[in-house]
Amino acid sequence: MVNRGEFGSRLGFILAAAGSAVGLGNIWGFPTQAASNGGAAFLLVYLVLAFALAYPILMAELILGRHAHGNSVVALTRIAERPVTKAIGALTGLAGILVASSILSFYSIVSGWMLGFTASYPLAAMGFDAHAAWLTDFSLSRNVILMTLFSAMTIGIVMGGVQGGIERWSRRLMPTLIVTLIVLAAYVLSLEGASEGLRVYLVPDFSKILSADLILRALGSAFFSLSLGVGTMLIYGSYISDEEHLPSIGVQVALIDVGIAVLAGFLILPAMYVALARGVEIFDATGALLSEDTLIFTVLPELFATLGTAGLVLATAFFFLMSVAALTSSISMLEVPVAFLTERFQWTRSRAAIIAGVFIGFLSTAIAMNFDSLFGFVIAASTRYGQPMLGLMLCIYTGWIWRRDSVLAELRKNDPDVASGVFWKIWPWYLRVVCPVVIGFILWRSLL
Ligand code: TRP
Repeated sequence: MVNRGEFGSRLGFILAAAGSAVGLGNIWGFPTQAASNGGAAFLLVYLVLAFALAYPILMAELILGRHAHGNSVVALTRIAERPVTKAIGALTGLAGILVASSILSFYSIVSGWMLGFTASYPLAAMGFDAHAAWLTDFSLSRNVILMTLFSAMTIGIVMGGVQGGIERWSRRLMPTLIVTLIVLAAYVLSLEGASEGLRVYLVPDFSKILSADLILRALGSAFFSLSLGVGTMLIYGSYISDEEHLPSIGVQVALIDVGIAVLAGFLILPAMYVALARGVEIFDATGALLSEDTLIFTVLPELFATLGTAGLVLATAFFFLMSVAALTSSISMLEVPVAFLTERFQWTRSRAAIIAGVFIGFLSTAIAMNFDSLFGFVIAASTRYGQPMLGLMLCIYTGWIWRRDSVLAELRKNDPDVASGVFWKIWPWYLRVVCPVVIGFILWRSLL
């Protein structure tokens, strides 16, 4: 048995898990989707789904992980009693590792762009225009080189271990992220045009709320944002000590995640309308908002360009923020295969991190070389279908396969009265009935 890591403190765990949850999904995905899907209507659906569906599954992962003190394959086999359910559990765990790796493979390409944009502003200011242009223009060499750089940072942190790598860096990076985000939002809100963005964000367009597409997107967004399904939270849960009170820790993680997404909305939507007030086009010919990547990589840079020196500082801070958010997320994705490899094959952490990281780097390279056909496909397959399906399996395993008394025993470890509390009255039923039915229905709709 390899010596397993453990988080050093509750705050360390919360920052690491929130670091995993808070990523490009919050700062880029959520606000841009809200902008094109009815503003506050999307926000509302997202909030409901995050707490009613995503939080119970987050709890399932944390409890499962801590119970097994092992990776997802171990956890899902251990709670099953019959050979068939054990085998399906193991397959589900393995599928999670595969999906986590696929997510990381496109995530590190996009994160590489963030690094490139961060460096391009100071470089351009110093007169290195050609270098700055290379960093921001779409090219195979840029995509692969920056992705490699980002992967190397991810691998380096994961090699440091749970406390020395993941926890230490989350403690440094998460406060940096929150402060940067608040300062940026405050500044953008003071500019002309920002109030129109606020209006779009906060006044719901209810005509959009019932569309199946919106709900599917909001669900995907909530799942992605809380890093669910693939075993990331399960692994992090396995590094929590038995003394910690899981339900309240889970609430804090979910609150930080949702809070940062909502806060990012106060930056991105106003910024779009500030850009509009300054003559930057934010709608396409049909009157719809420009697509998500255009908003971040074209509209915002055009806005920054109209702001002179302030724009230079803002732009650098903004893309730095994105890079930091991406890094605390990517380490949690790489941890999924790494935990499995160290525990199953007794590899050292460094070896596992390097081999898994390089392998995923090859996947990223394959995507970069076939960008048009693979990029969107991998994103949709892993996040729109893979994650909800795995989430469904987790509900079934925690709700139906795992014996109730054993689940209760796990929760009693740090809360002897848990059985009479609100959590235990509601959560098991949610996992058994509500979550599977809703996820199943949404998946079924999306496959039609
Ligand atoms: N939640 C992160 C974000 O919002 C991304 C992320 C990290 C993730 N780990 C994950 C997504 C595992 C899915 C699965 O950007």
